Amino acid sequence: MKNILHVTSSPRGEHSHSIRLANRIIDRLTARYPGSNVHINDTVAKNYIHLNAIHPVAYKTPESEHSPEQKETLYSSDLAVKELIQADIIVISIALYNFNIPSALKAWIDHVVRAGKTFSYQSGQAEGLLKGKKVYLAIASNGVYSDGPMKPYDFGEPYLRFILSFMGLTDITTYRVEGAGIPGIMETALEKGLESVAV
Ligand SMILES: Cc1cc2nc3c(=O)[nH]c(=O)nc-3n(C[C@H](O)[C@H](O)[C@H](O)COP(=O)(O)O)c2cc1C
Repeated sequence: MKNILHVTSSPRGEHSHSIRLANRIIDRLTARYPGSNVHINDTVAKNYIHLNAIHPVAYKTPESEHSPEQKETLYSSDLAVKELIQADIIVISIALYNFNIPSALKAWIDHVVRAGKTFSYQSGQAEGLLKGKKVYLAIASNGVYSDGPMKPYDFGEPYLRFILSFMGLTDITTYRVEGAGIPGIMETALEKGLESVAV
């Protein structure tokens, strides 16, 4: 039995390729680990606010000294961090937007990368605090980025791999539904992506 966190970033619901791909991964995981809990964090619906002047001060202030305003500001961030800490397996579905991750997902990242909670500089160098967790990335795109001339232009996967590793999440596997906008590839892109899942 595992706690599985599914972080989504597409507004397209059941039509979303990234969510369908992630759901295939989760189906495999729940078959392998019966009784698992699946918690969904829909970052589009959640609409995390951009970090403002209160966040950095509140992040540095001990919890017991938080003002009511700081408490309110940190509520979503604290919850998102708690979900990450509680998860054994994290599945992130990513709709590739403008060669990068959607801003809704970036906002979630800004709320979970927190000193003392998900990373620490206490030893003098950065240390990720989220240990022993498995991450799956489910990326959907109209172009092809796993190989070929566009490979250097997917800035989403390298960024995610870096920032997740920064928090200690180093065991990362990527699956893709790609080429969904390219005639000759688009016809089988979804099926091919779903079938590639080997979890
Ligand atoms: C605003 C926007 C920007 C996009 N930018 C790219 C892009 O840079 N490269 C690409 O291959 N596809 C791009 N696409 C296509 C999406 O990646 C594709 O539709 C994908 O399936 C979206 O994920 P979803 O099906 O989970 O919503 C873009 C789509 C939208 C709506």
